[in-house]
Amino acid sequence: MVSLLKNTLTLMITFYFILSSSLLHRATGTFSEDVSEAISMKRMEKTTHLHFFFHDIHSGKNPSAIKIAGTPDSGFFGDTYIIDNPLTEGQDGSSEVVGKAQGMYAFAAEKEVALLMVINYEFTLGEFNGSSISVLGRNPVMDDVREMPIVGGNGRFRYASGYALAHTAWFDPNTGDAIVEYNVYVKHY
Ligand SMILES: *[C@@H]1O[C@H](CO)[C@@H](O)[C@H](O)[C@H]1NC(C)=O
Repeated sequence: MVSLLKNTLTLMITFYFILSSSLLHRATGTFSEDVSEAISMKRMEKTTHLHFFFHDIHSGKNPSAIKIAGTPDSGFFGDTYIIDNPLTEGQDGSSEVVGKAQGMYAFAAEKEVALLMVINYEFTLGEFNGSSISVLGRNPVMDDVREMPIVGGNGRFRYASGYALAHTAWFDPNTGDAIVEYNVYVKHY
């Protein structure tokens, strides 16, 4: 009985030391460390050009852009839309789908037509399937070409930075439907 107790006690003490040393390690774990050797040195930065068409569809039974906020007496100012817009390889909506643009845009200028864009462009084709870029920028939609910053990304576009150039290829003033051509230059690893 005594030896059993002794053995149990020894076991408990041993476990205590094993556990406490690993707990201690966790408790004193490093909050930050320089991993530049491991991450940036082994991977070369590259720049990828993406070209696609963004379909902003307000009309019909299945609009991809819906208005979620806005007041009737302020004109466009404040109107906010949430979108899940298809991205295609060609201008024709029936061409191959390369991804989708999910996010929102809002009319954020009182005296002109300029949108605040907060949108993730997720790709579903080829080597960038499952990777996305995030755009946060100003979009003065009446301008021929608008430039918006890429503020980040994930998957293959982890650490992304760069810019997107948007040009309206087609617009229907009656419905608000638009097809916008994008040329994106994205730096990533
Ligand atoms: C993209 O990836 C998803 C999930 O891994 C897969 O189901 C799908 O078939 C892929 N699409 C293409 C076009 O490769």
